[in-house]
Amino acid sequence: MKKLVFATNNPHKLEEVHAILQEKFEVAGLADIGCTTDIPETGTTLQDNASIKSHFVVNHYKLDCFADDTGLEVQALGGRPGVYSARYAGENASYEQNVDKLLTELNHKENRKARFRTVISLMMNHKEYFFEGVVNGRIINQRKGNSGFGYDPVFVPDGYDQTFAEMDASLKNSISHRGKAIQKLADFLLHNG
Ligand code: IMP
Repeated sequence: MKKLVFATNNPHKLEEVHAILQEKFEVAGLADIGCTTDIPETGTTLQDNASIKSHFVVNHYKLDCFADDTGLEVQALGGRPGVYSARYAGENASYEQNVDKLLTELNHKENRKARFRTVISLMMNHKEYFFEGVVNGRIINQRKGNSGFGYDPVFVPDGYDQTFAEMDASLKNSISHRGKAIQKLADFLLHNG
């Protein structure tokens, strides 16, 4: 089985990716390769940040690797918080604080349209490849559900009545931004890996 490093310390993301790639690839997280560095996300785009993280692993550990960066892009906020989704309510903000800030900013706004966008950078044999996944939906005005993480309790994908936090993991993975990007990565690896 091909072994790949996923440059993340986020247990939720690792779990999602394990579930999608299970029989096809063996995926190791940063902790599994002994990397405890919180790789600084200093880019101004999702692509930049994904690339910074995959290059970090290649440069320090000499291992083929992929990394993702995800943003929630809200139409009424001109695409914010976007690349700054993790730090929306400030440096080291909790998921809870970020969701509170989002609900406050959208208070009384009629346009609730939003999308999650994930960009993956894959570094393989010293070449870089990008994969993107998008899911459109809307932000509801109060939290629903206990699964998932981040903005999941307030995001309802188009075509569904439940938030991501009310779905079981396999349903979220089959329609989510990260699920779609990972599926593209898997298809690429199966043909080129
Ligand atoms: P990251 O930089 O890719 O880790 O993502 C930035 C932020 O987006 C995270 O801190 C989460 O708040 C949010 N996020 C990323 N992926 C998801 C998801 O699948 N559901 C809900 N929120 C997410």
